[in-house]
Amino acid sequence: MEVIIQPNHHQIASIAANIIRDAILMKPNLVLGLATGSTPIELYKSLVRMHREDGLDFSGVTTFNLDEYVAIPLEHPQSYHTFMAHYFFNHVNIPEESQHIPQNTSENHEEFCTTYEDKIKQIGGIDIQVLGIGTDGHIGFNEVGSSLASRTRIVTLSQSTIDANAPYFNDDKKAVPELAITMGIATIMEAKQCLLLANGNSKSVAIAKAIEGPITSMVPASILQMHPDTVILLDEAAASDLKEVDYYNRSYANKLLLQSQ
Ligand code: PGA
Repeated sequence: MEVIIQPNHHQIASIAANIIRDAILMKPNLVLGLATGSTPIELYKSLVRMHREDGLDFSGVTTFNLDEYVAIPLEHPQSYHTFMAHYFFNHVNIPEESQHIPQNTSENHEEFCTTYEDKIKQIGGIDIQVLGIGTDGHIGFNEVGSSLASRTRIVTLSQSTIDANAPYFNDDKKAVPELAITMGIATIMEAKQCLLLANGNSKSVAIAKAIEGPITSMVPASILQMHPDTVILLDEAAASDLKEVDYYNRSYANKLLLQSQ
């Protein structure tokens, strides 16, 4: 795990965007795993800017989103389909057929979930998976207690996730869907690289548990300790409960030094 701490969320978004840009330049048919929520918005803005101003070409890129609510129409203002179109897909040149977001269109959910996994495998797996983290340590919609071996499936959202998402539904907790489709933890762990972004004080306890606590299904993000190539990008507020900040900062400074030689 590489932990990079920056003064604010603009800088973490910019580092994440640079990692993705460099990966696309190396591999134009990059497979990206994408996340929704407030955290990656700044990252999408940076990538859109790179497309508009520097001509970063997404035409060969394929994307797979982590999750989507069940039982809201895809065109609902709070669906993740709407979110992705608004913040990213409408502004870059990823072909529509290369954009994948789980959706509740199939009567047979199990078959849909298996097909989603198969599509990821057929294309050779996800190269970079972007992740946020819930205040309870969830990744995707893999809530506390999710099997660390879980695959894409339908899940029930925890009360803390429903509470956290209520502001997007006019603070009406009952309007937040109870069910979602999410990639599983094992699905996420198969990505070649994971980029987890977190900013703000509300994430500091979950981040400390995920990075410095024991690996446990009670903190789903803690499984990333077992991932061979995970970069955790934090602002100072999200890093404020970590014990080893000095070590992470020295490690990153040394990495930059080595790269500049
Ligand atoms: P947020 O959500 O980016 O809106 O904080 C992250 C998550 O719950 O995974």
